[in-house]
Amino acid sequence: MKVGILTGGGDCPGLNPAIRGAVMRLLDHGAEVIGFTHGWKGLVDGRAMPLTLDVVEPIISEGGTILRSSRTNPFKPGNEAQLEAVLANLKKFEIDALIACGGDDTLGVASKLYHQHGINTVGVPKTMDNDLSLTDYTFGFDSAANVALHAIDGLRDTAKSHERVIVIEVMGRHAGWVALYSAVASGADWVFIPEVEPDIDACAKHLNQIRARGKKWGIVIVSEGVELPVMAGAETELDAFGHKFLKDMFVGPTVAKEIAARTDFEVRDVVLGHIVRGGHPSLFDRMLGTRVGIKAADLVIDKDWGKMVALQGNDVLGVPIEDAVGNQKTVPIELYETLRTTFNK
Ligand code: F6P
Repeated sequence: MKVGILTGGGDCPGLNPAIRGAVMRLLDHGAEVIGFTHGWKGLVDGRAMPLTLDVVEPIISEGGTILRSSRTNPFKPGNEAQLEAVLANLKKFEIDALIACGGDDTLGVASKLYHQHGINTVGVPKTMDNDLSLTDYTFGFDSAANVALHAIDGLRDTAKSHERVIVIEVMGRHAGWVALYSAVASGADWVFIPEVEPDIDACAKHLNQIRARGKKWGIVIVSEGVELPVMAGAETELDAFGHKFLKDMFVGPTVAKEIAARTDFEVRDVVLGHIVRGGHPSLFDRMLGTRVGIKAADLVIDKDWGKMVALQGNDVLGVPIEDAVGNQKTVPIELYETLRTTFNK
């Protein structure tokens, strides 16, 4: 059996442990494994590398992906030639099964290849945004939230020294998981997440109150997908899957300006951006990546096509890819409300 693996979309820590787990399991079953590089682009261009034991053994602690990544979408209207190339290369490389590691977009392509073209695909969910349905966690999230947490801990020290408010913008697209978890765990004073209508006046009032009771510094966390009324109509480029490049929306700096206008605090802003996607995978993500990689290989060995590996409770199991994609897992309001005991009031 010859199996192809690719990683698409934004990279995140945990991809290499997942590749490693899948390859090691497949090799145990006598399969040949190759990696298509740069996501779906590798299949469009026919670019591949062998995935042997020597290649994958040392990569457990490496962030990013040894297979590289891209946001190529062969199903985008107008990209029909790309889709033909993908199908032709799957034949040319004599691929019996394809493991696609990605978020909603990459797995959406895998699902279409399976349902519309009969390609034997299996999906591995990854995203630091943690917004994929049917899986409790995606690898990448724990590592990213920890990087954000350590950065915020450091920024709190300088905020205290200079008696300032520091506004910190973190990635997370349209789900506030990274923002909420890093805010709660760092003891932030306020957090804006896309799931909750932003109330700048309430935030400023809270900051004025903490100042009045003698706390002369503050930390405000903003998820990149939050849209303030003053940002209405702001336009930015779209990627191949039709998503806005949120880095160009400047929500963190905008929140900082709005707070400065409403309080006596000196305000600074920091956009953590891609920093949170880098670095070594955490222990949790190394374990989760390894487990889902092994399970993806098992689905291939069992010829259980069209499935995505999901973590449910402490079990890893296969669920239909199409049930997981196109259905974002955002922060439940009840969770936000419960945690609000410690901030935003
Ligand atoms: O992987 C998802 C994500 O991290 C989002 O949180 C962010 O908006 C996006 O990727 C940015 O990706 P890039 O700049 O690499 O296209």
